[in-house]
Amino acid sequence: MLIRYKKSFKKIAMGLLSYMPQEKELKTLKETMECYESNDDWQLYLWKVDEDIVGVVGVVIEQKKVEILHIAVNPSYRDEGIGTKMIAEVKKTHPDLNVVPGEAISRFYEKCTKEAGKGSRL
Ligand SMILES: CC(C)(COP(=O)(O)OP(=O)(O)OC[C@H]1O[C@@H](n2cnc3c(N)ncnc32)[C@H](O)[C@@H]1OP(=O)(O)O)[C@@H](O)C(=O)NCCC(=O)NCCS
Repeated sequence: MLIRYKKSFKKIAMGLLSYMPQEKELKTLKETMECYESNDDWQLYLWKVDEDIVGVVGVVIEQKKVEILHIAVNPSYRDEGIGTKMIAEVKKTHPDLNVVPGEAISRFYEKCTKEAGKGSRL
């Protein structure tokens, strides 16, 4: 289930975001969190399985476009379709906007989209 980020989830969100190669440096990671916490156009979502937070997806809204900047899943929960489901839920959450991948997530996004063409994913 996709839920909106709130401050009480900060540590778990930072831990998940740090799986992204560009967020390995603590300084960068803190700056990223600051963007999500202080700009209304930057929106962070978490993926919950039962009581556990196991995934994160972050977007920035620009006019008619939703750009996905971050996506990461706890390694223990990978290859179970959670990353794909998070992208599908972001699309459902913003039905009137064009959802596009940021550079850092383009490889995974393309894989999801390609397989959707075969009817199996998004
Ligand atoms: C990318 C990520 C979010 C995928 O989450 P997930 O829940 O495992 O995704 P799904 O189960 O929906 O899909 C898994 C598939 O995506 C593939 N995949 C994983 N990372 C990928 C990447 N960077 N580029 C392309 N495909 C990728 C897996 O090999 C797997 O392929 P398969 O179905 O053919 O076996 C997860 O691997 C992750 O957190 N990676 C570290 C963070 C990161 O690098 N994010 C940016 C990715 S571009």
